[in-house]
Amino acid sequence: MEMNAKQLMETARALMADGKGLLAMDESDPTCNKRFEKLGIPQTLEARRAYRELIVTTPRLGESISGAILYDATIHQKTKDGVSLVEVLSKAGIIPSIKVDSGADALAGHPGEKITGGLDRLRERLAEYAKLGARFAKWRAVITIGEGLPTCACVHANAHALARYVALCQEAGIVPIVEPEVLMDGSHSLKRCCEVTEKIIRAMFHEFYDQRVMIEGIILKTNMILPGLKCPKQESVEEVADATVMCLMRVVPAAVPGIAFLSGGQSGELASARLNAMNVRFRSRLPWPLSFSFARAIQQPAMEIWRGDDGNIKAAQEALLHRANCNRAARRGEYSSAMEKPQI
Ligand code: 13P
Repeated sequence: MEMNAKQLMETARALMADGKGLLAMDESDPTCNKRFEKLGIPQTLEARRAYRELIVTTPRLGESISGAILYDATIHQKTKDGVSLVEVLSKAGIIPSIKVDSGADALAGHPGEKITGGLDRLRERLAEYAKLGARFAKWRAVITIGEGLPTCACVHANAHALARYVALCQEAGIVPIVEPEVLMDGSHSLKRCCEVTEKIIRAMFHEFYDQRVMIEGIILKTNMILPGLKCPKQESVEEVADATVMCLMRVVPAAVPGIAFLSGGQSGELASARLNAMNVRFRSRLPWPLSFSFARAIQQPAMEIWRGDDGNIKAAQEALLHRANCNRAARRGEYSSAMEKPQI
């Protein structure tokens, strides 16, 4: 670990530098297919490859994106001209990363709850991914809020698995993104989301301590503090920003090099506005940079424009770059809804 400490801190710093953020493009095949199906895009290996090529070849993407998270198939793929997608990213100044969990499965004995897998052979897989150019990794734990949920068993099992993943990544010199996602599904209040997020993050850092994790060499990827999608009370952008920062200040050590939010199904505009409000309202008081690691909130408009048609690539890339730029502005507290108006 000693040997890797400097490398881990440097990678984490680079990921958080210059007001840039992360692009999650690591949807598993089933998730990617589901999104394609809704838009009438063929659910084929080639369509998924072409879509990922569209993303990584977006001109000037490296001005707002510091790192991109890939899926196993994608890290092995090439553009139609035969250049590996990893190489395209690296040339654009974007650090390649890999999702290494194997997804969330039902937690035995705990109906409605999930445990993330992927520890088997993880040491060997990390070594292979490092050879392919990955310098950071991602593991996502899923926490559901419901009647009597989450249980302590679910929180602890996921926190423990995350800690084991983190220790293996750091041993390999790869910065782990630790992602506990408290889902927006349901009618719970913002306060309940705050309690549950606090609980999972606390449990996680406790496990990190036991597993001898280097806190300076991780990135935390978490949800914003939001009411459930079906909650009748939907707080304002400012209230969400305040609740999110207050919650994280209570539980995330100042030694963490950065926090990057997931979007979790929020619209692109709302995700940008909420991140912006956090940076505007708390900038001078934050111990860590607040950034983004969005998938849907960056990609969705681009995917809708592309629809599998080569003729739409340029317009789709412009839409992708626009969302990436809006989020870069939000990191600096310089985003405003005026950025969303068509430029004449
Ligand atoms: P969303 O931003 O679409 O929630 O995806 C982020 C992510 O990487 C989920 O694991």
